[in-house]
Amino acid sequence: MEDNQSDAGKGTTMKSTIGNQLHLSLFGESHGAAVGVVIDGLAPGIPVHPEFIQHQMDLRKPKGKISTQRQEADQVRILSGVFEGMTTGTPICLMIENQSQQSRDYAKSKDLARPSHADYTANEKYRGYQDYRGGGHFSGRLTAPLVAAGALCLDLLKSKDILIGSHLCQVAGIEDDSFSADFKQLKEEISRMNETYFAVLNPKAQQKMQEAIEQARKQGDSVGGVVESVVLHLPAGVGEPFFHSIESTLSQLLFSVGAVKGVEFGDGFALARMTGSKANDPFRMENGRVVTSTNHNGGINGGISNGMPIRIKTAIKPTPSIYQPQQTINLATYENAELKIEGRHDPCIVHRARVVLDSMIAIGLVDLLIERYGLMWFAGDPK
Ligand SMILES: Cc1cc2nc3c(=O)[nH]c(=O)nc-3n(C[C@H](O)[C@H](O)[C@H](O)COP(=O)(O)O)c2cc1C
Repeated sequence: MEDNQSDAGKGTTMKSTIGNQLHLSLFGESHGAAVGVVIDGLAPGIPVHPEFIQHQMDLRKPKGKISTQRQEADQVRILSGVFEGMTTGTPICLMIENQSQQSRDYAKSKDLARPSHADYTANEKYRGYQDYRGGGHFSGRLTAPLVAAGALCLDLLKSKDILIGSHLCQVAGIEDDSFSADFKQLKEEISRMNETYFAVLNPKAQQKMQEAIEQARKQGDSVGGVVESVVLHLPAGVGEPFFHSIESTLSQLLFSVGAVKGVEFGDGFALARMTGSKANDPFRMENGRVVTSTNHNGGINGGISNGMPIRIKTAIKPTPSIYQPQQTINLATYENAELKIEGRHDPCIVHRARVVLDSMIAIGLVDLLIERYGLMWFAGDPK
């Protein structure tokens, strides 16, 4: 195909790096040797707990019939930046080997662009040089190192009593109960969800969601859903005006995750239908602390935390790779074609993506907290 951009190729293609104070560089492909991340900007003297990293990795792993049958050990190797169980302050490289590739599944249909996946757009951008196997750099596999990096940040936040938790508030149109407005109960729900693989508050809703996923799988189809996340005990005053606001920082990270198609803070789109008298969150003093009676704005005013729980909803689309025949184009000939997908895919991503979203929120908040309090706020005492 003719390239009609006169300046095509002049820009850099290295855009897998993010962060203002805490820099993250993501690398790897689904069927390459490994996936991983380099984290630069964490203070020295922070304890690293490999068992917690592994616990988080296990929450992202596919399990049972409601997930892809690709089974990876997902063992995280710490290649640098950690010595005697503590961060050194220099770049941390986390690497996860790929062990369960079945690239032949992709060879047959390598020129057939999967609708709603990145095959066509990656081919346009990378001129056919992209690693197409298993979605290459655009695979959900790339979220494994993000969970490993997120585990370091979640641990760090926990050391300051800042807690993050999420549940699947909707899957295939089936709704879960809401998180509690009572802080004590919310704290208990967060810790319960953080120990649960399929994170749903109401067991009946959980069963119905799993049945809907199983039914979609049998029909060669897929389903999507919404994840609700909360951040508890984030102090007031965190976040920068305009471009590094809590909303702009977290939404960039959340939208970086494949299949995320919507992010809202507080009551989000519903606020647009409210009047000011309903939407405003009145301030009051409670036991010497500033609180708001309601939390329609999700704990954020002017891009800055007000001390109330941060509330975020993230919409995840149905998995693009489905087993029903689909109309597409052939990228080698640019002719119409029919695609019948092989390979192993998730009939639903939502339950596995939950821990990825928690990780992205943690990474963004650590970045903003370093901006607010300085790098050494997190550092250990000098030896
Ligand atoms: C944890 C996780 C697992 C995923 N697994 C699959 C999968 O098995 N098959 C698939 O087609 N897409 C999967 N995806 C979604 C694709 O990565 C994503 O749809 C694709 O990169 C296109 O990006 P977009 O949906 O944001 O446009 C997964 C995403 C995540 C977060």
